Amino acid sequence: MRSTMRAVEFQEYGDPEVLKVVTAEVPEPGPGQVTIDAAYVGVNFADVKARAEGYRVDSLPYRPGLEVSGRIRAVGDGVPDLRPGQEVAALVGGGAYAEVVLADHTTVFPLPEGLDLPTAATLPTVVPTVHALLHEVGRLRAGETVLVHGAAGGIGTVAGQLARAAGAGAVYGVASSAGKAEYALKHGYDEVFTADSFPEEVRRATGGRGVDLVLDPVGGETLRRGLDALAVFGRLVSFGNASGAEPWRVGQPELYAEGRSVAGFSILTLAQSAPDALRALAERAFRTVTDGTVRLPVTAEFPLSDAAGAHRLLGGRSSTGKLVLRVAD
Ligand SMILES: NC(=O)c1ccc[n+]([C@@H]2O[C@H](COP(=O)([O-])OP(=O)(O)OC[C@H]3O[C@@H](n4cnc5c(N)ncnc54)[C@H](OP(=O)(O)O)[C@@H]3O)[C@@H](O)[C@H]2O)c1
Repeated sequence: MRSTMRAVEFQEYGDPEVLKVVTAEVPEPGPGQVTIDAAYVGVNFADVKARAEGYRVDSLPYRPGLEVSGRIRAVGDGVPDLRPGQEVAALVGGGAYAEVVLADHTTVFPLPEGLDLPTAATLPTVVPTVHALLHEVGRLRAGETVLVHGAAGGIGTVAGQLARAAGAGAVYGVASSAGKAEYALKHGYDEVFTADSFPEEVRRATGGRGVDLVLDPVGGETLRRGLDALAVFGRLVSFGNASGAEPWRVGQPELYAEGRSVAGFSILTLAQSAPDALRALAERAFRTVTDGTVRLPVTAEFPLSDAAGAHRLLGGRSSTGKLVLRVAD
């Protein structure tokens, strides 16, 4: 077996051009781990934030990549249920931009039947995250109304579909262009607003009542204005900080008067702090893909060597749906 492989890393923070193809040692699985011969890698906004500003980067050089599909290459001691050659999708803490990816067996999932490898690479982050945002954390009930920021993105397109499938009374989105709004409207949204005017548009669309649930990956001023768009007893789930704003603080004035709640979610942190809870969540969420409730929208494929191209599209706010990297030449 070969001992070296191609991977994509950056040595410094900056524009997409800092992503370089390097030759690296093929990793070997330790106890509880497997290695995966990668077929496709899902691209996440967190990868862009890692490259641009060091989000969740411990040290340089850094190899991005949080989700991968492919075949199990080798299995470490103490891994009961996975075997070489098996097709899987995996969530990893980083390092998926590579031909061989090391993963903890608790976040490696046999491929749901009928799912192709490109699509499977987008399964590990988006579907469990959206399921958690709407159900476990957001506690959405049938008939309630939902507002989702970033409605045309990877998370947003699945959130629209899953909210509708959960029987939401109305699903509203926020997106930064007319093209993105049009795309989101095909993925479960009733109406899509701009970031400037969403609080007023929500009031108009709900007859002044506000929405029951806001999903906020933007933070800062958007989060604060999202609270004002909530109905009495409404919930806001914060799950990102795309705006790069200072950490938010919410207290009694915003919460007491109308019984509002603010909650948070991070799939990567859950994978570390409560892997069993993540596994159970993922299994519930994946059923919505196998039963056809949700379609995972892969809109563009780039070779691994052009990870920079994917970052340009996603970081330039011009992508819709999910982007993937094809690992084979
Ligand atoms: N907590 C978790 O477990 C978790 C898991 C996955 C993703 N996330 C978060 O969810 C969000 C979506 O992730 P994704 O990978 O699916 O990416 P994505 O939505 O496909 O792309 C990034 C999104 O961020 C928006 N955006 C970009 N720059 C922005 C800015 N400066 N201010 C406001 N909005 C901006 C864009 O929407 P517009 O151009 O339409 O504004 C776009 O929809 C990200 O913030 C990510 O960090 C969180």
